[in-house]
Amino acid sequence: MSAYASNSLDWWRSAVVYQIYPRSFADGNGDGIGDLRGIIDHLAHIAGLGADAIWISPWYPSPQADGGYDVADYRAINPDYGTLAEADELVAAAHRRGLRVLIDLVPNHSSDEHRWFRDALAAAPGSPERSRYIFRDGRGEHGELPPNNWQGQFGGPAWTRVPDGQWYLHLFDVRQPDWNWENPEVAAEFDDVLRFWFDRGIDGFRVDVADSMAKDQTLPDLPTDRAGAVRMDKYVGHPSWDRPELERIHRRWRAIADEYTDSPQGPRVFVSEAYLTPAARLARYVEPGRLHTTFNFDYLLAEWSAQSLRHVIDQARAAHAGLGAPCTWVLGNHDQERIATRLGRSRTGRRFTADGVATEEIGVHDDWFKQFPLDPELGQRRARAAALLELALPGGAYVYQGEELGLPEVLDLPEDALRDPTWERSGHRMRGRDGCRVPIPWTAEPGYGWGQPTWLPQPADWAGFSVEEQDGDISGFLELYRAALSYRRGLAALGDGDLTWLDAGENVLAFTREPGFTCIVNFGEQPVRLPAGEVLLASAHLRGGTLGPDEAAWIER
Ligand code: NOJ
Ligand code: CA
Repeated sequence: MSAYASNSLDWWRSAVVYQIYPRSFADGNGDGIGDLRGIIDHLAHIAGLGADAIWISPWYPSPQADGGYDVADYRAINPDYGTLAEADELVAAAHRRGLRVLIDLVPNHSSDEHRWFRDALAAAPGSPERSRYIFRDGRGEHGELPPNNWQGQFGGPAWTRVPDGQWYLHLFDVRQPDWNWENPEVAAEFDDVLRFWFDRGIDGFRVDVADSMAKDQTLPDLPTDRAGAVRMDKYVGHPSWDRPELERIHRRWRAIADEYTDSPQGPRVFVSEAYLTPAARLARYVEPGRLHTTFNFDYLLAEWSAQSLRHVIDQARAAHAGLGAPCTWVLGNHDQERIATRLGRSRTGRRFTADGVATEEIGVHDDWFKQFPLDPELGQRRARAAALLELALPGGAYVYQGEELGLPEVLDLPEDALRDPTWERSGHRMRGRDGCRVPIPWTAEPGYGWGQPTWLPQPADWAGFSVEEQDGDISGFLELYRAALSYRRGLAALGDGDLTWLDAGENVLAFTREPGFTCIVNFGEQPVRLPAGEVLLASAHLRGGTLGPDEAAWIER
């Protein structure tokens, strides 16, 4: 029997994709760093959860200046993680279990240790080697000022000067030089990288910052406010984000993926990572012939309220209508505060209005956000309800490793343990994203199944969150996820399709999906009556036909 018999070629339209952050998923050789052997050994956990696919964050050789999103070689495996032969073994083992495999494509920038960047530094200004990246002369009398006022995403200028006086552009860390996508050699190189992995059986790519490769070639200054601060949002017409020239790049990749449509494995797919709002802007990325799906970050960033989530869900559905692309839903990833913590704060995210526009541009991992007081127990309760909402919505869904365990953010990592470049680049003002990247607990005993010390220290009180402790505990997170994903596989109403809202009151979201399914979530402070039908699954123990505050239920009519 073919390894793909269990899931159709349209698997990606409704897939539950489990995100693996390889450094923190599982340790196969006991050195405290996650690796491919660890993934292979724990595929049973993911298949047993009921996911359809895995997405593995960058596994390439990398100096880890940005957690692997600084790629030194796009066609190899980080020796800390394993070998290319093990990657092949992993793909085959995942396929045998019916799991599709997505990996990360990082096309906006490489590592400064990439061979082509080293060549560029060794070559002269104006050379073909330099033209693979974005080198410019500086401004000022002696070129001592950066070519423009762009700022890096982790803080500080987006330009760094090299010894001969030129500057290179890096939208992210100083060690992540941006590729020059105007150079045909760069485009051809990425074509080849795609084929390299597709030929090895990879089912698709998550495209890192899919909205950033193209730049306005005049590299104009960004607008500043009265205080002189550079505008950091991705406004329409921005010289480095969401440029019209991106379409050409996306379509070129799609054509390569489509070359594989008739392979036994079926079509290869892309999911675009782009923090763009509102949904209509992002929907252009999934127009026919472009990318397949795109992360819905409005959904991730929205506050826990019936109003905001309803607006975001409706905007996404409206924007996708007629495109033939399914919506996707995401609660967390390796860049965001873990949902079980975020939803326990007095402020839980962005407020969205009826037109789907956020009232402000906060990111949930901003330190600003962390000032809001936290009730961990409330966060756990809401995260359980959030999971049932996410998994009932039409389209695909993402589960970030540890979400299925209800893992909280680690808020008290010692400063000398912090690895996110945000910490250094912000002059120690922002701690960054390490708190959601701590190695996840497998066993209950000290070390949680990891060699010690782990690359980021694990909290002493995580035994209760471990897979071992939660296995079989029907009141725990893990069994809730297992049950939800098992229903999702069994019920025709779930996955791809549409929904119909029910009028259930101001602080309630309730909708039906056909045939015969209802999901209800209570965001209010009062219990609400359950709709008619049999309760299949609930985020909490239900009493007397009602749903308590911050609880959700799945009902069969
Ligand atoms: C998005 C990735 O998810 C994040 O971790 C990374 O820092 C940036 N892109 C830059 O590659
Ligand atoms: Ca290891």
